[in-house]
Amino acid sequence: MTRLTLHSLTEAHLGPILALDHLCFGQLWTEEGYRRELNSPNSILLGIEDCEQPESLLALGCLWAIVDEAHLTIVAVHPEQRRRGLGQLILSGLLRAACDRQLARATLEVNAENRAARSLYAQFGFQEAGRRRRYYANGDDALILWLSGLQNGNFLQKLEEWDRQIQQRIEAWGGKILRRC
Ligand SMILES: CC(C)(COP(=O)(O)OP(=O)(O)OC[C@H]1O[C@@H](n2cnc3c(N)ncnc32)[C@H](O)[C@@H]1OP(=O)(O)O)[C@@H](O)C(=O)NCCC(=O)NCCS
Repeated sequence: MTRLTLHSLTEAHLGPILALDHLCFGQLWTEEGYRRELNSPNSILLGIEDCEQPESLLALGCLWAIVDEAHLTIVAVHPEQRRRGLGQLILSGLLRAACDRQLARATLEVNAENRAARSLYAQFGFQEAGRRRRYYANGDDALILWLSGLQNGNFLQKLEEWDRQIQQRIEAWGGKILRRC
């Protein structure tokens, strides 16, 4: 059985954060950038760890709380751990953290060609609200997605249901989500 934890990250996790960032994005943010996020009262950084391998991270998520909005800046899963529900687990963790912080809606930007991420966000109800044409250096468009109603009772119910489904999916391949190692 693979025991997993979903938890807030601290400076102690900087090494694994940078390693995963490098693997998934080729360095989206620098060490200094992550240090700033980890120390900012307006940022939430979550990670998924295998209890047997605390020196590496399986997934990483980050949001900025801006007024009553959650701006999701990072959702990333280790390339060898994809299609096992960890993207859903980290996204659900970020949305729960946004709810706990009384944020009303969530937004993010995604490359229009990133089918995996678009499909993940659609599962959680994110909707397209705009497109920035040729936004990325390679000429791809960016889509702006929004999810509203985070404080509605039925959203919290949906989140509970998603969490049950994610847990079942992870248990089906032999994983178990623990609160802490
Ligand atoms: C996008 C990403 C986070 C998905 O992580 P993951 O752990 O593979 O996702 P999950 O296993 O939880 O899958 C959730 C859903 O995402 C979608 N999805 C994930 N990978 C997919 C793929 N290769 N093709 C199509 N859909 C995919 C599916 O809808 C999937 O649900 P399903 O398995 O029931 O069909 C991961 O591919 C990743 O880290 N990509 C690189 C970083 C990135 O692009 N982040 C998003 C930036 S906006």
